[in-house]
Amino acid sequence: MIKVNLGGCSSFVKDAEYKEYVDKALAAFDTLENENGAGNDFLGWKHLPSQTPDSLVSDCEAIRDEWTAKGVDLVVVIGIGGSYLGAKCAIEALSHSFAKQLSRKDGLEVVFAGHTLSEEYISELMDLMKERNVAAVVISKSGTTTEPAVAFRLVKQYIEEKYGTTEAAGRIVAVTDAKKGALRSLATQEGYRTFVIEDNVGGRFSVLTPVGILPIVLAGFDMKAMLRGAAEMEKACAVRSGENPAVEYAAMRNLLYDAGKTVEILVSYNPKLQYLGEWWKQLYGESEGKDGKGIFPASVTFTTDLHSMGQYIQEGRRMLMETVVTVEKSNRSTIINNDPQNLDGLNFLSGKHVEECNAMAELGTRLAHIDGGVPQLQVSIEKIDEYNLGGLFYFFEKACGISGYILGVNPFNQPGVEAYKKNMFALLGKPGYEEQAKALQERLK
Ligand code: PA5
Repeated sequence: MIKVNLGGCSSFVKDAEYKEYVDKALAAFDTLENENGAGNDFLGWKHLPSQTPDSLVSDCEAIRDEWTAKGVDLVVVIGIGGSYLGAKCAIEALSHSFAKQLSRKDGLEVVFAGHTLSEEYISELMDLMKERNVAAVVISKSGTTTEPAVAFRLVKQYIEEKYGTTEAAGRIVAVTDAKKGALRSLATQEGYRTFVIEDNVGGRFSVLTPVGILPIVLAGFDMKAMLRGAAEMEKACAVRSGENPAVEYAAMRNLLYDAGKTVEILVSYNPKLQYLGEWWKQLYGESEGKDGKGIFPASVTFTTDLHSMGQYIQEGRRMLMETVVTVEKSNRSTIINNDPQNLDGLNFLSGKHVEECNAMAELGTRLAHIDGGVPQLQVSIEKIDEYNLGGLFYFFEKACGISGYILGVNPFNQPGVEAYKKNMFALLGKPGYEEQAKALQERLK
């Protein structure tokens, strides 16, 4: 289902070099499979697709049906980072581009909060909540992350004031650790329904846990198909072979990185995949960017960004590689009409599908960028649907684990994320941070 094509790298690397990196990737694959590498207590994501029971999806569907029957028409999903980006990516990819304007719903309307501390954003969300029949899902593995905790405090208060505390308890679901964290204690005390994020699954690898499953189901999408697609890739990526797509991708990107291509751009040609780029950036950025190492992950949506970033990619500093996510078939069909006057000179396109133009733009751009010195990796899916997205999620996760081990880092921790939090707590006057606050104030004078 997912195909990796490395043909666009052939003019940049020698066969013998690639073989050497495939060997490195296979050694990293063994470490991942044998679970004897750094961070090996965070490998629970590896078998999620094949081991997630249908009953978990059915439980989420039951909540969707219950809320729908109650008239709920807006679900606020609160989370940040790995507790947000996977669901956001899937819902954006699967929804009609103009669902809002058409009032078209696949399921309940899902909006996100807790991924920002912008006062305007949360205030404007409150404006929306006032007009709608609201429920909320709060997602935090640690249960202590500031951004979602602040948003949840406000959303909870609003729901309780509007519906009363007993009804509010039925309109709020928490997804968090089985035992630890403030959110777990709060959920127990308030009597919320909860779903568990297992200890051995890190945030950015959690899209196929209730973190992703619940919002995706609430939005009306077929999570069982997504898990089937992921399970298919779990099988394909478990084969110890140089033809394993995760091994191929991990080997080539590390070879290019060692050859000076320190920035990888994830490219798609469909705006629906913009958040795939955001999810992928977190996955690879947080997994690999440590110990002074790591490919810097960036993303663009073409052809839009060819009119902004195209110049740099074609002719700027040559530290770039591109990974193009190709979608082979469009889900929709629109044919360019013939215009007898042909004032725009576009009759050479008459009778062609718009997607054919997109495909030729993709091909032409890939060749131009190769000529400009940007190696091209290509990851193809048949179409944008639940099944293929599930496969893509799993493929990138498995390749990330392999890639991180080739690089020589622990791909499953994120120690660097704490630095900003400590400063923010100190500056906001959190008890226990007095010394750090004093030191920061000195620096800010
Ligand atoms: O990947 C990660 O671990 C992070 O991005 C977390 O998902 C993010 O910080 C949110 O954490 P939590 O779910 O504990 O609120």
